[in-house]
Amino acid sequence: MTSDVQSGPSSALAQAQAAYADVQARGLKLNMQRGQPADADFDLSNDLLAALGPADTHLDGLDLRNYPGGVAGLPSARALFGAYLDLKPENMVVWNNASLELQSYVLTFALLHGLRGGQPWVGSRPKMIVTTPGYDRHFLLLQTLGFELLTVDMQPDGPDVAAIERLAAGDPTVKGVLFVPTYSNPGGESISAEKARHLAGLNAAAPDFTIFADDAYRVHHLSADPAEQDTPVNLVALCRDAGHPDRAFVFASTSKVTFAGAGLGFVGSSEDNIRWLSGYLNALSIGPNKLEQARHVKFLQGYSGGLDGLMAAHAALIAPKFRAVDEVLAGELGQDGRYARWTSPRGGYFISLDTTEPVADRVVALAEAAGVSLTPAGATYPAGKDPHNRNIRLAPTRPPVAEVYEAMRAVATCVRLATEEHRAR
Ligand SMILES: Cc1ncc(COP(=O)(O)O)c(C=O)c1O
Repeated sequence: MTSDVQSGPSSALAQAQAAYADVQARGLKLNMQRGQPADADFDLSNDLLAALGPADTHLDGLDLRNYPGGVAGLPSARALFGAYLDLKPENMVVWNNASLELQSYVLTFALLHGLRGGQPWVGSRPKMIVTTPGYDRHFLLLQTLGFELLTVDMQPDGPDVAAIERLAAGDPTVKGVLFVPTYSNPGGESISAEKARHLAGLNAAAPDFTIFADDAYRVHHLSADPAEQDTPVNLVALCRDAGHPDRAFVFASTSKVTFAGAGLGFVGSSEDNIRWLSGYLNALSIGPNKLEQARHVKFLQGYSGGLDGLMAAHAALIAPKFRAVDEVLAGELGQDGRYARWTSPRGGYFISLDTTEPVADRVVALAEAAGVSLTPAGATYPAGKDPHNRNIRLAPTRPPVAEVYEAMRAVATCVRLATEEHRAR
């Protein structure tokens, strides 16, 4: 900033306009909206491609090439990913790529057949609670399946569980809640042990009220030091201890561990729920791809330091990108909330930024016009409508660190300009 300009609101606007013109003149072409690993992250798992050789036709006493094996997955994959979710193998189904597909199956079977011996949900115009800001694909999936969405706030220590209980206690058509328990999308918040216990035992009018926990980022810490990590909860065990043994399904995948487009999705729940799910999966398929499961087992078990070793290698690549976002935003916008506030998560894939004024759509449009692609404003709310027009999801994992710095300087300039424009009106 030059010191010879007039002070006051109009000069702040003029300065922001000048800074924005500078950014535009740079001819940037940067993308901060893709929640994808970088190629360097994928490269950590390239040995997965060669983890099986021509002699590896059998595992767990099964011929990986043939049908037999069942729908719940290879025993060694159920054990490995059971440990991932802190559950026993018999509490697991390991399926194919994409945990979203498994989420859609469980929800669809609940709609068509009911859960825990109850009525099919489809007849009751079912409602599902989601947290906001949240993940657009959850909203899309639930709305595509016909659920009416009810929203509660995501807070620094997890969902507003008191609000979930108020909604669930008064209405038997409120069938459950879908949220991300660890390093949430987009804010990176993790549910506290206390809130998780409250959620597991909450009073719901529907006897089949169900917790759908999408634990996509359960092991995605930004530091290998446990003191700098959030502690994931075990919702299946907490529900059992609260006297609701079948209340929780916990989903995850290796999409951000090995390959986003070629990983394994899995789900943990009570043994009764696993039997219920397996029964319906058995009608869809003779079983998941056992070769892919065997490949993941061999690769992850053989990785130096195992899964923890691989996740520490990811953290070393990703943490500097999160630091870059925080550093630029703090340096350019200050930490007093004058322009914006943002989260500083200890893991996950995203940072959530809230503008102080209702200008998120303007920020995204300004950034686009300056060559920086951001997640569309509103995407973190159902139907793409942010009632406050404040939230922007930042996704720093895919671009190289230098591009994250450059993109964030541009984004900060856009936030300043949109804010000053709004205040000058
Ligand atoms: C919260 C959350 N769940 C699920 C996914 C996608 O998972 P999968 O590839 O296993 O379907 C993502 C990807 O961004 C995500 O952020």
